[in-house]
Amino acid sequence: MPLKHPDYGAPSDLDDHPDLLVNPVFSREPLRVPRHALPRDQMDPDTAYQIVHDELMLDGNARLNLATFVSTWAEPQALRLMGECAEKNMIDKDEYPQTAELETRCVHMLARLWHAPDPRQVVGCSTTGSSEAAMLAGLALKRRWRNRRRAEGRPADRPNLVMGINVQICWEKFANYFDVEPRYVPMEGDRYHLSPRAAVELCDENTVGVVAVLGSTFDGSYEPVAELATALDHLHRRTGWDIPIHVDGASGGMVAPFLDPDVTWDFRLPRVASINTSGHKFGLVMPGVGWALWRDTQALPDDLVFHVNYLGGDMPTFALNFSRPGAQVVAQYYTFLRLGLDGYRRVQQTCRDVATRLALRIAELGPFRLITDGTELPVFAFTLREGQEGTTVYDVSCALRERGWLVPAYSFPANRTDLHVLRIVVRNGFSHDLADLLVADLRRALPRLERQGRPHRGEDAGGFAHGAETKNPRSPGHH
Ligand SMILES: Cc1ncc(COP(=O)(O)O)c(C=O)c1O
Repeated sequence: MPLKHPDYGAPSDLDDHPDLLVNPVFSREPLRVPRHALPRDQMDPDTAYQIVHDELMLDGNARLNLATFVSTWAEPQALRLMGECAEKNMIDKDEYPQTAELETRCVHMLARLWHAPDPRQVVGCSTTGSSEAAMLAGLALKRRWRNRRRAEGRPADRPNLVMGINVQICWEKFANYFDVEPRYVPMEGDRYHLSPRAAVELCDENTVGVVAVLGSTFDGSYEPVAELATALDHLHRRTGWDIPIHVDGASGGMVAPFLDPDVTWDFRLPRVASINTSGHKFGLVMPGVGWALWRDTQALPDDLVFHVNYLGGDMPTFALNFSRPGAQVVAQYYTFLRLGLDGYRRVQQTCRDVATRLALRIAELGPFRLITDGTELPVFAFTLREGQEGTTVYDVSCALRERGWLVPAYSFPANRTDLHVLRIVVRNGFSHDLADLLVADLRRALPRLERQGRPHRGEDAGGFAHGAETKNPRSPGHH
């Protein structure tokens, strides 16, 4: 099904010119080429390049994109390696055995980083990102539960998954695509993520697992994984329901090990069955790589794994895609080698320093109240203080956009749909200097926003929330 194009307001302007009218660049012939159909003939590669290049100038500046969690800067050497591997297909393990070997080494490195009691028992794979990793981890939880229920001769047709309503949209997708009832713990007062007690109250014998997020897409806060594990241990003793935890460490899986070694959230907790992270977020690789790891083969039922012949041996694969680029996996290995434990610590500490200082400076401006302060993920959300009736966070977002800054504004989900916030993600490459320029622009915009007298923009102007969308109440089995 072709998906409809987003409506950018003036389709009729384009309809007047169904062809692209191409300037005589570099004194080549003027051209007309169809916009929505394959051109009949070939054209000079430089002309084609120029057309595409020019059109893409309308995209935002990725480095000023404070909405995304995904890397927007990488070292030239990583980019060079990616170029050298552009043609390598990750699935062709037989043809590119060394790329496959680097993938395995990355899994081993992550198993150790996440304190697997026996790293050799860990099974894992690269993915296109945390979303694919979430699908695989969710499927493993569901299959494990189903196999156990069938072995006990009990019904296995009504699985549910418990999680905070702040989970990234990929978990709503998982529940929708794979027929699992999502049970969301709502926000309450100043609690903007899951609480162990509320999560346990939603569990029953059909709960395939509980997802804990490190940290939340909405505000960068860590969910209390260790406390959740303790609460589920109690539940197990009380009821016999032995419910595993999956940790969605899309961002935090590559922050907490370096900055918060005392926070216990990983395979040190026996109840944590699996963990995912995005290599392309705080793993510091350009878009296109994630990781999913399971504590051991019991956590990943073998009936989900496909076995392919590989150099005369057996290569297990677990993936939604078949073909997939190998370049990002190579870049991940490069970055692991290049930075090591100390390099990652320094990069992430700098992000945290920039985030906490920027949060403080924004709070000092007056009209804003911090929801989080960047001390967990280098991410923070802030809202307008009471009494700022003349403007909205959506107005603030638009004012910043005039200077090129992309700062998303959105509302929180149930039961805090009344709370509207702005969110800033500090990534590698966002310096103290850029942060100061952002504060200066915000300070300059404020008097005008205060003078405007009434809000100009509401929620419909937000546009981009980066996975922090409100959950769809019509999704199947919505709880
Ligand atoms: C907590 C969390 N989980 C999952 C995802 C989805 O990750 P990806 O974009 O790598 O598919 C995100 C993205 O922001 C996230 O923040």
